[in-house]
Amino acid sequence: MAITTCVFDAYGTLFDVAAAARLAAAEPGREALADIWPKLAEDWRRKQLEYSWLRAVMRRHDDFWTVTQDGLDWALEAAGLDDPDLRERLLALYWELQAYPEVPAMLARLKAAGLATAILSNGSPDMLAAAVASAGIGEFLDDSLSVESVGIFKPDASVYALVGGRFGCRPDEVLFVSSNGWDAAGAAGFGFRAAWVNRSGLPMDRLPARPHHVLSDLTTIPDLALS
Ligand code: LAC
Repeated sequence: MAITTCVFDAYGTLFDVAAAARLAAAEPGREALADIWPKLAEDWRRKQLEYSWLRAVMRRHDDFWTVTQDGLDWALEAAGLDDPDLRERLLALYWELQAYPEVPAMLARLKAAGLATAILSNGSPDMLAAAVASAGIGEFLDDSLSVESVGIFKPDASVYALVGGRFGCRPDEVLFVSSNGWDAAGAAGFGFRAAWVNRSGLPMDRLPARPHHVLSDLTTIPDLALS
């Protein structure tokens, strides 16, 4: 089946989530972060995701901004950092994330070829709107779909079903792209064609479905979608 619709995870896939801690560490007066920002960023991301999965299993949904703050609070405490100003700065930077460098040209190619394009993310609508505006990629996206319309996080199938509801396409017409192995697996299990962007060379997740493609960045997504 030809691909008609290309759908992207947001955080870590289009937007560089580690940038918040990396940029904060480079600011004057934040020398305490110089050596530890990679671990802080990793703990923050891991806890943010764990809390999203656990809330889904518990059926205790709250929005991704709450989960993002809860993950950061865990990571700051684990690092021994009791610094309200740093906390506020890191959270502010999360609203201004940049896209990975190849993103605008890649999305422009998809649009030029007539494909539908969208984000499908755990992020709340206001978080996604801010990230899209900050990265300057709104002109290349038809929509940003948020889990908030179903009230449960990925990889619940009801989230992936939002794509067909919005675009009227069948799952096998969708190329779903994520840098999260578990998300790519969830999408493949749902019936999408799934591409995992494995920027850091991680092992394949051992889950019931596997992505169809493994890439090191987003550059070749239009080739996959149009092949
Ligand atoms: C998202 C997270 C999972 O954007 O990266 O949905």
